[in-house]
Amino acid sequence: MRSLGIDVGGTGIKAAPVDLSTGEFHAERLRIPTPSLCTPEILAKTAKEFVEHFHWEGPIGVGFPGVIKGGKVMTAANLDNSWIGVSIDEFLSEATNCDVHTINDADAAGLAEFHLGEGQTHQGVVLLLTIGTGIGSALFHKGKLIPNTELGHLPMRDTIAEKYASRKVKKDLDLSWIDWAPRLQEYLLILERIITPDLIIIGGGASKKFDKFSPEIKLKTPILAARHQQHAGIIGAAFAASKQLL
Ligand code: BGC
Repeated sequence: MRSLGIDVGGTGIKAAPVDLSTGEFHAERLRIPTPSLCTPEILAKTAKEFVEHFHWEGPIGVGFPGVIKGGKVMTAANLDNSWIGVSIDEFLSEATNCDVHTINDADAAGLAEFHLGEGQTHQGVVLLLTIGTGIGSALFHKGKLIPNTELGHLPMRDTIAEKYASRKVKKDLDLSWIDWAPRLQEYLLILERIITPDLIIIGGGASKKFDKFSPEIKLKTPILAARHQQHAGIIGAAFAASKQLL
């Protein structure tokens, strides 16, 4: 079975048709830069562009950077406030003429890693963090996702974790990976203390550079880079369309 996965990120909106049993892309991924104002209308237009580009007629799964409950957007910290309260599944289904199902983007990346990547052999508590424009989290227990955990919004240093330790902060402050790593270390120590996970997986943009900062991270918990790196978001979004894994 295939579905079209769309990953809505802070800097790029990416899509590809995905084989749900292998996670393989059936066509080259298409990336469209996220406009500075990403309203529901603009995302609908982008989704239509993907549908036309891939000549798509089947189900679509969307990974969205905010809390999603019952097909409705509850938060959209790094997008636009006009999203709050939008019935995103209905809205995008109408715009694309396809059946659309949306989940949180980090939950999507977590599903991909759990079913096809590093998480699958772990039966305990697995925490996946996507580190990019924001910090997203996906928490699993015995393979079951606890959705919308939003651990990137944990209060920290008079702000929230994603405004202290995201990849965007690294870029904005022009920090090297080594200079940025203590911020991640401090954040991970807090998470380790309150969750006691059995495994931590780093996904999102930072996963490609895992080797550059991981020697600086000292935890009791094993830590790995996501196997599907930045593609986990698209693969997991495609899983969301099939709904059976949720
Ligand atoms: C959002 C999360 C999202 C994360 C990564 C945060 O700002 O609140 O829902 O998972 O960014 O995109």
